[in-house]
Amino acid sequence: QLEQRVDSVLALMHLNEKIGQLVQYNGRWDATGPSANKSDQYKLEKLKKGEVGSMLNITSVATTRETQKIVMEHSRLKIPLIFAYDVIHGYKTIFPIPLGESASWDLDIIQQSAAIAAKETAASGIHWTFAPMIDISRDARWGRIMEGAGEDTYLNSVIGVARIKGFQGEDLSLPHTIAACAKHFAGYGLAESGREYNTVNIGEHELHNAILPPFKAAANAGVATFMNAFNEIDGIPATGHKVLQRDLLKGNWNWNGFVVSDWGSIAEMQVHGYAEDKKQAAELALNAGSDMDMESFSYEGFLETLVNEGKVSIAHIDDAVRRVLRVKFELGLFDDPYKYCDETREKNDIYTTEHLEIARDVAKKSIVLLKNDSKLLPISKTVKSIAVIGPLADSKDEPLGNWRAKGEYNSAVSLLEGIKNAVSPSTKIYYEKGVALTIPTVKPGDNQFSHPLKFNNTDTWGIHAALEAAKKADIVVLAVGEDAYQSGEGRSQTNISFFGRQQDLIDAVYKVNKNVVVVLMNGRPMDLSAINDKIPSILECWFLGSESGHAIADVVFGDYNPSGKLPVSFPRHVGQEPLYYNHKNTGRPYNSKIVTYSGYTDTAKTALYPFGYGLSYTRFDYHNLSLNTSEISKDGKINLTVEVTNTGDVDGEEVIQLYIRDIAASVTRPIKELKGFKKIKFEAGETKTIAFTIDAEMLQFYTANKIWEVEPGTFHVWVGGDSATTLKSEFKVTE
Ligand code: IFM
Repeated sequence: QLEQRVDSVLALMHLNEKIGQLVQYNGRWDATGPSANKSDQYKLEKLKKGEVGSMLNITSVATTRETQKIVMEHSRLKIPLIFAYDVIHGYKTIFPIPLGESASWDLDIIQQSAAIAAKETAASGIHWTFAPMIDISRDARWGRIMEGAGEDTYLNSVIGVARIKGFQGEDLSLPHTIAACAKHFAGYGLAESGREYNTVNIGEHELHNAILPPFKAAANAGVATFMNAFNEIDGIPATGHKVLQRDLLKGNWNWNGFVVSDWGSIAEMQVHGYAEDKKQAAELALNAGSDMDMESFSYEGFLETLVNEGKVSIAHIDDAVRRVLRVKFELGLFDDPYKYCDETREKNDIYTTEHLEIARDVAKKSIVLLKNDSKLLPISKTVKSIAVIGPLADSKDEPLGNWRAKGEYNSAVSLLEGIKNAVSPSTKIYYEKGVALTIPTVKPGDNQFSHPLKFNNTDTWGIHAALEAAKKADIVVLAVGEDAYQSGEGRSQTNISFFGRQQDLIDAVYKVNKNVVVVLMNGRPMDLSAINDKIPSILECWFLGSESGHAIADVVFGDYNPSGKLPVSFPRHVGQEPLYYNHKNTGRPYNSKIVTYSGYTDTAKTALYPFGYGLSYTRFDYHNLSLNTSEISKDGKINLTVEVTNTGDVDGEEVIQLYIRDIAASVTRPIKELKGFKKIKFEAGETKTIAFTIDAEMLQFYTANKIWEVEPGTFHVWVGGDSATTLKSEFKVTE
């Protein structure tokens, strides 16, 4: 019936109206509608003619209603607009940045946070978010690493699906759900040298085995839309990539949603050196399967001529239009174009106490305890005195991170506030900022030889005051890291250490008080080698969103036992990047006594903190790893069990991780790959037997035959609390 409804609309459409459905405009106007400026007036005329399919960045019930009205009152066919917005980690209630939230490894709460984001977004008149980003991100220098689920293919797949389920719910036509968008198809996260928008060179096998599976999972989960990417892949811009979009996504995977380009990426194919001009860019993009043109004005300018010239077929246009209409039908917009325009919901459903409570829960579960050597943590709430120091200690804004949608400036609970709310009235708190947050300033066009840092001389005095506070206190909580906008789109860096004088502050404070807990707020893995040897306790707190300070206090004072695990490797040095645990073995992996092996002469090749790593206030021991058989056929199954004991004296949660390696194959395989995990609660002293089923799904890969299949041979399997686990067994797969 849906297809019939789509066809019935399509049958009425003129070519200009069809092309119009494939056009997306940016609109930064408010409820008063398009302004008098030329660009807005141009867009207004197109809206009236029914030559626009979607608008992005139009928010609020009043504004979406006014804009929808233009189409409903003036256009011939009254095809409703679909409104889109980048709701990346919350709408107004801000959740941890996606990388941070992924550290929870908790698919239920990740789904829940996306569902709340959807509810708030829908209550604001918007139908569609450009999330989740499921780009495999292996390079800490790349600013957008903050926006995905990190370096692992499996983790990105399951987290991506959880986010899609959260946004889209059971049924897109329900009032609290919005369409999701799997982005960026594909390879964007592998930008050479971590430099934003840079070239991606990746072999076919790595593309299929490492990069595409999260997208396949998203397509299978019914994600409504895909976004393609700014980058090229081996010479072909993703936006014009027919093999990926038309052949694989819409062909082999049989996915029936629509693909939106990234902002201007169709026209940018000229700059890539792939299209002669904008007209050819439109031809290449449409024929490759890019359905909607975001703000590059290529489709509206040239598709009609291209159809008349026979360079773009009407069948391809119809296919693209059908896809857009289908999503609009699924959202229920043809039944009621103002369906999401409800002032009562806008008033009642956004930034509620309930949403903030859940944001706190998600935030505390996203924190990763990196180090706790002398068990400084948790701190007693009746401690006599605490010095709360650092440029991020009382920030109410940085914790909101980048891509914060409608998160209001300065609306987060600061760490200082969180601590004040948690401790007993008798605890003395000394607060000092110490130094300013300094951000990199070299951007294209700047003098490339200028120093990227601007020093602030008043910092010396700030450090002095911080030292006085540190000397007086029993314990120091030192909040350092990055500015909220140091990560995100266009924020690549060559340096991932502390900027400005933060390292000086840390060193000076540590000299006068050894009881230092470093609280990190950052959007990427940082080089922590300068603090790792001395600072006894380190908490990775990312940018945790609206409830940041409360969530950190929950962990610092032991109301919540940290359970987060790193979704990315933290390096010893930026020179190791891109660094990821599931790399290939090479022909010379061994650390022999001679220098001719694969490593560095000045730094170990391993991560400082590996993928999957994270401590707890208790300890988990793994033992008795056992397989019910040591040999299976290609479609057989193995039951694996392992005993895990909480050997400490407090309750806690552990993420039990399963890794597999195919020892020899028609295409070399990574040294180990995450294939499953379970997050389980343990009481103090409790032992549980944890079971996994190993099956073909976990063993198959894109082989030399260019298909997904299981190859016979020897496999190793590990279980443990992080990717460096050594608890191992092995089995054989026969024909
Ligand atoms: O959704 C984003 C995309 O990820 C990067 N370019 C702009 C788009 C729309 O804001």
